[in-house]
Amino acid sequence: MPGKFITFEGPEGSGKSTQIRLLQETLEARGLNVFCTREPGGTATGEQIRNLLQHDAAGEPLSDRAELLLFTASRAQLMDRVILPALENGDWVLCDRFIDSTMAYQGFARGMDIPTLDAINDFAIGGHKPDLTVLLDLEIEAGFQRLESRYAGTNESHDRFEREAREFHHRVREGYHRLAEREPQRFSIIDADRSIEAIASEVWNAVQGALL
Ligand code: TMP
Repeated sequence: MPGKFITFEGPEGSGKSTQIRLLQETLEARGLNVFCTREPGGTATGEQIRNLLQHDAAGEPLSDRAELLLFTASRAQLMDRVILPALENGDWVLCDRFIDSTMAYQGFARGMDIPTLDAINDFAIGGHKPDLTVLLDLEIEAGFQRLESRYAGTNESHDRFEREAREFHHRVREGYHRLAEREPQRFSIIDADRSIEAIASEVWNAVQGALL
C-alpha cells in the first residue's frame, strides 16, 4: 500500500483523540495527506451503528454476539469504503480504535473466544492490519477522572461501555498489554499519564522509528 495506517488504542480517557489531532498536524506540516477517522463510525452506516452500540438506541439490550458483529460490520464498511481507498491513494490514515478494541473489550473484558474474534476481525479487514498501533496506556482511575472533567458542565453522559464496572475496564487494560506482547513489532506502548506535549513527542518518535 502506498499510504500508512496508524491506529490508536487505549482504555477510556487515555487521550487518543487529542494525540491523533496533534499527530495529524505534525504529519501535515511535513506535506503528507492525512485522513483521520474513528471506530465505531467513520461512515454514515458506521455512525448509525455507533449510536446503536453506545446508547442502546434500538431500546433493547444488545447480546454479546450482536455487539461483536455490529462493531465488525462498522469496521468492514470503514475499511472497504474509506481506509483502503485512502491507503491506495497514498494517504496516511489515523484511526481512533480498530481491531484491538474488539480483542480487548469483547475478548479479554467480555470473555469471548479469542481465536474466534481473531478470525472475525481478519474477515472484516481482509487481512490489512495497521502498520503501527499506538497504545496509550493509563491507570483506569486516572482515565475516569479525565472523563468526569470532560463531562462536567456538559449534558453528555456516560455511554454503555463507560458504565461497565471498573473490573471490566481493568480487564480491557490487561488485554491490551497481552495484545502488545503478542505483536510487539506492531505495537508501541506509551505512558499516557503525562503532559499532552510529552505524550505527543513520544508518539512522534514512535511514528518516525516505525514508519519514516
Ligand atoms: P470511544 O470511541 O468514544 O472510545 O467509544 C467507543 C467505545 O466502544 C469504547 O468504550 C470502546 C468500545 N469498543 C468496543 O467495545 N469494541 C470495539 O471493537 C470498538 C471499536 C470499540
